[in-house]
Amino acid sequence: MFVKHIEDHSAHYWKSYRVMKDNFYQCPPLFDIGNDAFQRKVVNVLPKKDLLKILGIGSGRGELDCVNIRRMLGHVSRINNTVVEPSVEAIEAYKSLICGDLSDRVNTSWYNETFQQYQKRRDGNVATDKFHFISAVHSLYYADNDGRSIDYLIDLLEKDGVLFIIIQNDHSGFIRLFDKLAEYFGSHPVNVTEGIVTSKIVKCLDSDDSLVYDVMKQRHQINISSCFEESVEGSLILDFLTQMVDFKSTVTKDFLQSVLDYLKTPDCSEILSDGKIIFREDWDAFIIRKK
Ligand SMILES: C[S@@+](CC[C@H](N)C(=O)[O-])C[C@H]1O[C@@H](n2cnc3c(N)ncnc32)[C@H](O)[C@@H]1O
Repeated sequence: MFVKHIEDHSAHYWKSYRVMKDNFYQCPPLFDIGNDAFQRKVVNVLPKKDLLKILGIGSGRGELDCVNIRRMLGHVSRINNTVVEPSVEAIEAYKSLICGDLSDRVNTSWYNETFQQYQKRRDGNVATDKFHFISAVHSLYYADNDGRSIDYLIDLLEKDGVLFIIIQNDHSGFIRLFDKLAEYFGSHPVNVTEGIVTSKIVKCLDSDDSLVYDVMKQRHQINISSCFEESVEGSLILDFLTQMVDFKSTVTKDFLQSVLDYLKTPDCSEILSDGKIIFREDWDAFIIRKK
């Protein structure tokens, strides 16, 4: 069976990601912890500098990064922003967000590559620059399966710098669905990884006493009712959930049915009285400070 991983097909990735986000159910459109929490837990503890050096890993189209950059600019004069993002399409979209008023105070270096390629290049160049703020929002799944990337990112922090990670927690429907898919495919659908989730991060952080951290648990839901109908929207959502291109015609009819049945179970979803099927995608935000 020939499986096309969605992350290798950028146009399809962004189309299905957009449709999935359009179906967030009673949730904000971004994976945001909110202005107040970001101010209190991140901006207020960052080192007081004129110039802040920040790094984004898998920043995507930059929507959340730009919101956070604006929040930080309330307290610093200028920002040197380094972006590591393998999708050309996403980088172009991010550039268009930063080209207006932000460009006067934000100087961005774009790296169109994966986090793994960035590490390799950086280590090869024996680079020593460090960052005051690093964010990795729903991107570490593609980079790691044992927490090594967390250690790497912590090492890139300046003293008093903050690492901001958003990641599925262990009870998210995604993680449960990935386990189900792994039974069939022999491995998890995300290319490199078996899924880095909250428990793995906590294990890394608890073993390092140079850090203080805070976890904010967020309840998050997606209306996946259209996955059970013959619709383009439903097929795209299913592709994002399974992280595969054209999942419906990749797997056997029997397996497709068993995945659809599983998606309806309480492991993954809640069925509302009006029949809507609401997928649970709980995620955690980690705010990690290097003492
Ligand atoms: C779920 S999206 C999140 C995008 C953005 N952070 C947001 O909050 O909307 C995952 C991002 O990780 C990027 N990505 C995929 N593989 C990656 C890798 N190996 N290293 C770094 N980023 C990766 C994707 O291109 C995509 O932009």
